Amino acid sequence: MEDKQKIQPRKSLQQIQPYSPGKPIWEVQKELGLDRVIKLASNENPLGPSPMAIEEISKSINGINRYPDADATHVKEMISKQLHVQTQQLIVTNGADELITLISEAYLEEGLEIIVPSPSFSEYDFGAHVMGASVVAVPLGENYEYDIEAILSAISERTKIVYICSPNNPTGTYLAKAKLQQLLDSVPEQVLVVFDGAYSHYAKAEDYTNGLEFVEQGYPIIVLHTFSKIYGLAGVRIGYGVASQEIVKDILKVKEPFNVNTIAQVAATAAIADEKHVNDSQAMNENGRNQMYEAFSKLGIHYIESMSNFVLVHIGPNAKHVYEQLMAKGIIVRYGGIWGLTEHLRISVGTTEENEILLETIGSIIKRDLP
Ligand SMILES: Cc1ncc(COP(=O)(O)O)c(C=O)c1O
Repeated sequence: MEDKQKIQPRKSLQQIQPYSPGKPIWEVQKELGLDRVIKLASNENPLGPSPMAIEEISKSINGINRYPDADATHVKEMISKQLHVQTQQLIVTNGADELITLISEAYLEEGLEIIVPSPSFSEYDFGAHVMGASVVAVPLGENYEYDIEAILSAISERTKIVYICSPNNPTGTYLAKAKLQQLLDSVPEQVLVVFDGAYSHYAKAEDYTNGLEFVEQGYPIIVLHTFSKIYGLAGVRIGYGVASQEIVKDILKVKEPFNVNTIAQVAATAAIADEKHVNDSQAMNENGRNQMYEAFSKLGIHYIESMSNFVLVHIGPNAKHVYEQLMAKGIIVRYGGIWGLTEHLRISVGTTEENEILLETIGSIIKRDLP
């Protein structure tokens, strides 16, 4: 039937590119008829969710005829205890993704700009485009390090938000504490710094900061966090933000009442208290990262040292071919083309066994197909 639709969406939506998620395991299994598929594409926790979270989820199932707690009271209490912040400084959301959208809705409109050190997480651009604001991309340095001078010189009177993703997705690099201090001391007073700490549990560098000390000191900063990575709860969707009470109050104005479902709330409340799961997850990641570094070095593949649970590797002009060959063998990684990194792959750290299979397969593809 001929498409007679004449209803036009808002002009600003023309800027929006659909999000390109890592392919789900079932889809690759179905497409390729494979039994075993290894997904190292979405920086999930290969250890699985916290067993304590699973237990709480089972206990809560019978209560899902009721609406969830609109204030996520228990989650906030747990976060507040752990981070030593007041519950009024917290907003709990349907993943950190939702929080990025809510921040955009609360602060952005046509004529305003966000600054994104690039390449970085695509949802920042999405939020700006939804609101008709513009994105000013400031390239990261030669080794994907943050260039504070370049960020500062990109700021104009239209700038509303500066995004800092640390550790950064997809590069795994981070912003040192002294540099964040410099940025916060230098930005004009109308500018909000959004510090995305989705991967902060994996960062071990001495000069790393997760941004929270700057919230405490009263800087105009909001720190984002997620339960999707270290806590292994990507499938239930829950994240949160920490900022001054004033900032939180403004963002709460655009939050829907029941944005975080009951199962996510009980799971997060349990997971945040499960220190063993967090420690085991960190250890698994560190071992896996070292396993990858060692193998990449042997294979002569250049990688960017990562403070996170993924590694950006430089394959060369055949990166897309290697990505496709890995996919054909049931190993899903991310091709860097979506970030303009056409010679790179971003590979999430998996279990020892998953990493081993990946590394062997990549080795054989390179020996077979590449000069
Ligand atoms: C840097 C960064 N921020 C936020 C998110 C979104 O997290 P969530 O799953 O809580 O929406 C991701 C997910 O990959 C991410 O990489």
